[in-house]
Amino acid sequence: MAASSEIRGRVLSVASECVPLIKTGGLADVVGALPAALAKVGWDMRVLIPAYKALRSKIDKMDEVWREPGLFGGDAKVFSGTVAGIQVMLLDAPHLFDREGGPYSGPGGDWFDNARRFAALSWVAARIAREGVEGWKPDVLHAHDWQAGLAPAYLEYNGADGVASVMTVHNIAFQGWAPASALTDLRLPFEQYHPAALEYYGGLSSLKAGLVTADAVTTVSPNYARELMRPEFGMGLEGVIAARGAAVSGILNGIDSEVWSPEHEPVPYSAKAMKGKSENRAALCAEFGLNVPGPLAILVSRLTDQKGIDLLEAVVPDFIDAGGGLAVLGSGDPALEAAVKRLQTRFDGRVGVKIGYDEALSHRMFAGGDAVLVPSRFEPCGLTQIYGLAYGTVPVVSAVGGLADTVIDASPAAISAGVATGIVFQPVDALAFAQALRGLIGLYADKKLWTQIQKNAMKQDVDWAASAAKYAALYEGLTK
Ligand code: ADP
Ligand code: GLC
Repeated sequence: MAASSEIRGRVLSVASECVPLIKTGGLADVVGALPAALAKVGWDMRVLIPAYKALRSKIDKMDEVWREPGLFGGDAKVFSGTVAGIQVMLLDAPHLFDREGGPYSGPGGDWFDNARRFAALSWVAARIAREGVEGWKPDVLHAHDWQAGLAPAYLEYNGADGVASVMTVHNIAFQGWAPASALTDLRLPFEQYHPAALEYYGGLSSLKAGLVTADAVTTVSPNYARELMRPEFGMGLEGVIAARGAAVSGILNGIDSEVWSPEHEPVPYSAKAMKGKSENRAALCAEFGLNVPGPLAILVSRLTDQKGIDLLEAVVPDFIDAGGGLAVLGSGDPALEAAVKRLQTRFDGRVGVKIGYDEALSHRMFAGGDAVLVPSRFEPCGLTQIYGLAYGTVPVVSAVGGLADTVIDASPAAISAGVATGIVFQPVDALAFAQALRGLIGLYADKKLWTQIQKNAMKQDVDWAASAAKYAALYEGLTK
């Protein structure tokens, strides 16, 4: 519900994930939190996501608002309703989404027809944007990541009817690749199959399609917006993004302070009253079977190459030697799961590992940890270092993407200026990471300084309000 009486505009967000309905990563957090933040400042927001098997029961309480016969091999409908305060539209296309497994993969790996599945989502998004649904027509179609990348393209090629489009990159590593032979099947115009439009290294990329056709391109931190124009980070799309020039901007993610606040944890605490944090720490140590004299570091992450998890084996032994401890929650690459489990076996009582996905445990970890480790190789924004700031769980991060934008390194200058909020290291390698952990041991030992850094961190403005204002300005600029 909009807090101000006048509606500033209508936005249809299109994505594959949205908290609290379905989540595999930070994309879902952002897609779920942004509408509420924008609604507070007068935007009428709706989110379109697929009705995966797990979400089909929600449909019962929703209204059918759209029929789409013959949607990539079957008939589809769209249902609309309010779920957890978000105005959601669910694309019910059982032939594409009513399957056991995650949003992108089943027991045998990625679904073979992912390109079609998300082309279907994008197709319906573009049609709803163009034609409106039950009297509701958006001013802006906001596409998130490759899964929605074809939505701006379908608008551009089939008529936008005044609807502006925004393409947001949350992670360039996933590009929605398909062979060129899929062009017709994906309902894309043959005459647009050239390097300046749809062609991508001899095939197609739905992310590229969105990047070249959207009116504006955003990503989730200003630093990642710059990095994306460089080959080390652009992953093949750097030229495409650089060519969009001034149409590209970076808007930092916020966090939902209703959900992520130490004041809302079972044993609450705040910058003014930190006592609860030690109680949470003791409970966390007990839960993981740990006894840690120095700083207790936590890591809550997908265990993938992106996240720099492979560096742990090289740096953790010295950290443990110096008195540190580590609690890990994550799942992903089996080799990385095995690597963290090896550390647990080797440093029983100092390293604890839970393989899996557990939202409630992640809260207990931020509430009880002293520091949070985020040694990513690339990180478009990153949310866990921001939770760390809010919880006074000092972030130790690599100097990439949004990590560099959100954490101020405890350099002598930053310490004397009273602005340090964590530890930032570069390059992303074991040597620099080990040095950062030595720094952590030193900071933690200086109780006065440590408390100061925790307080600086907890003072940071990490709520969505400031970033929502930037999205609002972007939408307004596109629709004026
Ligand atoms: P990414 O989207 O690349 O995975 P982010 O830092 O943006 O990285 O977001 C990850 C989100 O997923 C955060 O909300 C984090 O707390 C959560 N998360 C990751 N792994 C787990 C896990 N194993 N259990 C609970 N939450 C997790
Ligand atoms: C992606 C990125 C992460 C970002 C999230 C939300 O998954 O890997 O850095 O925070 O999207 O934008």
